[in-house]
Amino acid sequence: MHAELGVGALEEVVDGPHRDHQLLGDLAALPTARGERHHLEFPGREVVRTFVDGEGGRAGSRAAGRELRRHPPAGAGSALGPVHQGRVCVGLRRQERGADPGEAGGGVVQRVAVVGAARNGMRGARKARADPTSARPGRPGAMPPRRHAKSSSSPAARELAVRVLRDVARAQGFSNRWLSHHLERAPAMDPRDRALCTTLVYGVLRHRERLDRHIDRHAHRPQGVRGELRDALRVAVFEMRELQRPSAIAVSEALKLVQTLDPSGRLRGVAQAILSGVDRHGETLDHTLASASPLDALEGRWSIPRWLAGRWLKQLGAERALRRAEALSLPPPIDLRLDTAHADPSAIVQRLREEHPVAEIETVPDAPWSVRIRGAGDLFYGALHDEGLISVQGLAAQQAARLLAPQPGERVLDACAGMGVKTLQLAELMQRRGTIVAVDADPKQLAAHEDVRRRGRLDEGTLDVRVLQADLTADVPALDDARFDRVLLDVPCTGLGNLARHPEIRWHRRFEDIAARVPLQRALLERSWRRLRSGGTLVYAVCSAEPEEGSGVVDIMRAHPESELLSERTWSPENDGTEGFYAAVLRRRD
Ligand SMILES: C[S@@+](CC[C@H](N)C(=O)[O-])C[C@H]1O[C@@H](n2cnc3c(N)ncnc32)[C@H](O)[C@@H]1O
Repeated sequence: MHAELGVGALEEVVDGPHRDHQLLGDLAALPTARGERHHLEFPGREVVRTFVDGEGGRAGSRAAGRELRRHPPAGAGSALGPVHQGRVCVGLRRQERGADPGEAGGGVVQRVAVVGAARNGMRGARKARADPTSARPGRPGAMPPRRHAKSSSSPAARELAVRVLRDVARAQGFSNRWLSHHLERAPAMDPRDRALCTTLVYGVLRHRERLDRHIDRHAHRPQGVRGELRDALRVAVFEMRELQRPSAIAVSEALKLVQTLDPSGRLRGVAQAILSGVDRHGETLDHTLASASPLDALEGRWSIPRWLAGRWLKQLGAERALRRAEALSLPPPIDLRLDTAHADPSAIVQRLREEHPVAEIETVPDAPWSVRIRGAGDLFYGALHDEGLISVQGLAAQQAARLLAPQPGERVLDACAGMGVKTLQLAELMQRRGTIVAVDADPKQLAAHEDVRRRGRLDEGTLDVRVLQADLTADVPALDDARFDRVLLDVPCTGLGNLARHPEIRWHRRFEDIAARVPLQRALLERSWRRLRSGGTLVYAVCSAEPEEGSGVVDIMRAHPESELLSERTWSPENDGTEGFYAAVLRRRD
């Protein structure tokens, strides 16, 4: 058996996720020149041949083809020598792109190539990516640069966490993207260190204000504690106060780190004084923060920015607002949607258990198509995802397409289709019969649909899926001339419903951002409504529990006498254990 790797493919591989770097490092060491092709041989295993055409440029600009073959055991040695024997070789491309940081719908990672698998199996590779809290990667924000550089030595977990935190703050970007970016460049890092680094990054972002209160309480000049020094201290205080790690370890690791930041030793003294204060008085301060007035407790103990805390108190009352904040302080599970049309849910769960023996897997009452999973690492990779049997999608977000209830043979508009998570779900619900027009303004998001089509076997059956780039607030003749039986409108939003999975959003959003999204959301609803046939159904969905973006927008339909609001619902972390989400079902009267 053999896999062919063009230079383009090799570039993909070298640029792949950190977990593959053991082999990928070997590949990278091969003498290659542009235009050369290698034949790699793997004994008796399944091989996916990846070929990438086009010359140079970034991975995303090339067309990629793919072919899956099962080869008989060949027993032959590797054309490249023993280095490739019995190793895992997976080439993956992380698709880090898009435009709106608030969009928190479907997945953003595209698997483009499995180059080969051999004796060690896939498990070793997966274990290396131990990101216990990373749910699906987030929506676009400021993006880490794509580089081919790899570091030869691995930074320690805490040092890397500080680098990630700096980049997230500086670029106002998504933490999961910066985390992946840095982890990919630390291929030799121990899986446990990767897991710790991930825990520290998300934990600090979830508890940032509380950690700062501790630091400021003991700093001689709080405003002077900034940048990497502050982040290093936040990491240590998080370990001490939230992870309940022995202070001796947290403090000594922090001091080592601070020493590298400032070899003169001056900052070391500052850090030592602060951390010993936290060690002695941390418990008392946490108690004080928690027992303050609800507004102060939301801000100080639960790290909800004051403007948002004030809103929640008004909307929900103190008890519920505090429950929401507490729910958002915990690492969330990863929610999966199962394609029950192609496999029995119990068979999929069984495979999940086999592939992730240490993961906690929970089925969901009344939703046999969903599971929640913890400790499985990144589920965007692996055979189940590649076969389209699992899709990473929040439990509440899964409801939007179900509420639309598209029927086989219908014509459905997936308005704001993004990267196609809900497009695939619509296809599943329609039993892959009928027509789906998936539209989005952003071509980079739509680029993922090729992968969705392949994973979801959308060319099977009689389903016609058309992907169209268009601004849905404007005239689009291809849509306006044809009325749809059903419209799913999953609008861009603040993403404030996704604070558990994207904790940095709470620090990047401002009060004004909520109102700023509303005109676009309304315009999208008005236009989408016109594209619905009489008797048809439209679902308006938004991954935010903020009423302005939900019922506030749907209120404009009162001006349409032919519209009927059949139902509306807001999901919340505190009551439903899900992301914050809103969906309304509207019917257009005959
Ligand atoms: C919440 S996301 C959609 C997620 C997607 N439905 C999924 O499940 O994967 C909102 C999408 O709206 C798109 N969008 C924003 N403004 C738009 C416009 N004027 N016309 C069409 N699409 C737009 C964004 O590009 C983004 O992909």
